[in-house]
Amino acid sequence: MITLGIETSCDETALALIETRIVNGVFECKVINSLVHSQAELHSAYGGVFPTLAKREHGRNLVPLMRKLLETSGIIGEKSTSTSPGKASLKEVLESFGSDFPAQNPDLFESFDHADFLNNIPTIDSIAVTEGPGLEPALWVGINFARVLGALWNIPVIPVNHMEGHIVGSLLNSEATNGTWQRLKNMDFPAIALLISGGHTELVKITSQEQSERVSDLSAVGQRQSGNTFRLRYSIIGQTKDDAVGEAFDKVARLLGLPYPGGPHISKLSHEAWEEKIESSVKLPRPMLRSGDLDFSFSGLKTAVLYAVRANSGTDGQLTDVFKKGLAREFEDAVTETLDSKLRHAIESIGARTIIVGGGVSANHRLREQFQKTADEFAIPLLLPTRHISGDNALMIALAGALDSGSPLDLANPAKTPLKAQGTKRLGAEV
Ligand code: KG4
Ligand code: ZN
Repeated sequence: MITLGIETSCDETALALIETRIVNGVFECKVINSLVHSQAELHSAYGGVFPTLAKREHGRNLVPLMRKLLETSGIIGEKSTSTSPGKASLKEVLESFGSDFPAQNPDLFESFDHADFLNNIPTIDSIAVTEGPGLEPALWVGINFARVLGALWNIPVIPVNHMEGHIVGSLLNSEATNGTWQRLKNMDFPAIALLISGGHTELVKITSQEQSERVSDLSAVGQRQSGNTFRLRYSIIGQTKDDAVGEAFDKVARLLGLPYPGGPHISKLSHEAWEEKIESSVKLPRPMLRSGDLDFSFSGLKTAVLYAVRANSGTDGQLTDVFKKGLAREFEDAVTETLDSKLRHAIESIGARTIIVGGGVSANHRLREQFQKTADEFAIPLLLPTRHISGDNALMIALAGALDSGSPLDLANPAKTPLKAQGTKRLGAEV
């Protein structure tokens, strides 16, 4: 089964194609291609993601990216003709979306002028698209693109929760597009997922609806056709009360005069501090460490950085490189200690048998190292995404769709299963 993944929840326009199959009851996956077009540089001028700009860019980028995906994947299909049964032309499909569609989606609509190639029906079986959480104007572009393709190729569209994408992305052994089949990493239940991104900081308990002990034992995985579905149950057992951890990295980076997105820049400075044996002259708080629950708070930490920056700026308003490096290191240490302590608490409280870490911040070396130590101490496996797919991508969305984590939409009766952007969608709400 070939699944197309579409991701437009924030500032990455991403498309991916994967093939999945069941061999002797075990789910296997082959990455055909995965493309990400980052808008980060454009948003950098605003110091964060600017939603209407993200919407415009997704609208402009999706069609050219789709052309590239199909051309480089070699799965361009047969030319559709007016006599092909049940197949509409692109023009007919766009007209069927109503007179509001062009005005509501100006950039996407215009880009379809150069999308006649979509009339060639490729061998794609289903489309998985992010429905939330994320920026609603940005989400809508991917959703509308998915709806057009679904109608044009007469294939199902599966709505995917972005955070679930980050979870299943960590189950891939490799994102290699060299045509090799791979099994997913084993996940023993209950598992604990720590999701750390620009918009979220969550601890999620994962169990299996099938009551199976291991993800690889779930022979029903992906067999939607036969009515069997693979479902993981999620419950959020801890979350941030204010800023997300990625947001804190980005805000602190801004205070230190570093570009957006700030996480990788803080991480680099902190590494230099470590190599040059620079200690911070300022001690930052470790928020919520003794709160006794599994919640997080990062806004106080950010404010402490603000005060430290004010107190240590020279008369010219500048900070020394040594101060910046030391502070970056101290900030990374404070975040690491806080996340790790809550993770340990969560492992103990649910008796976790696997740790999963996902989301853009999981690219951070210091965090990866610490979480590995924790996993070794508890003698349970740690599943991390390869660093290339720790950020937003469509590979994880395609995989979540192929695992049938969402319910395919009833194309014949769209009102029954409406597909719409859900900016604040939460994991577990659908269970
Ligand atoms: O998951 P993601 O790509 O997008 C969202 O869904 O939010 O996460 C983006 C976040 C940004 O805040 C970025 O600064 C952070 O991930 N990030 C990092 C690192 N790489 C990306 N934070 C800390 N260290 C890194 N190496
Ligand atoms: Zn994300």
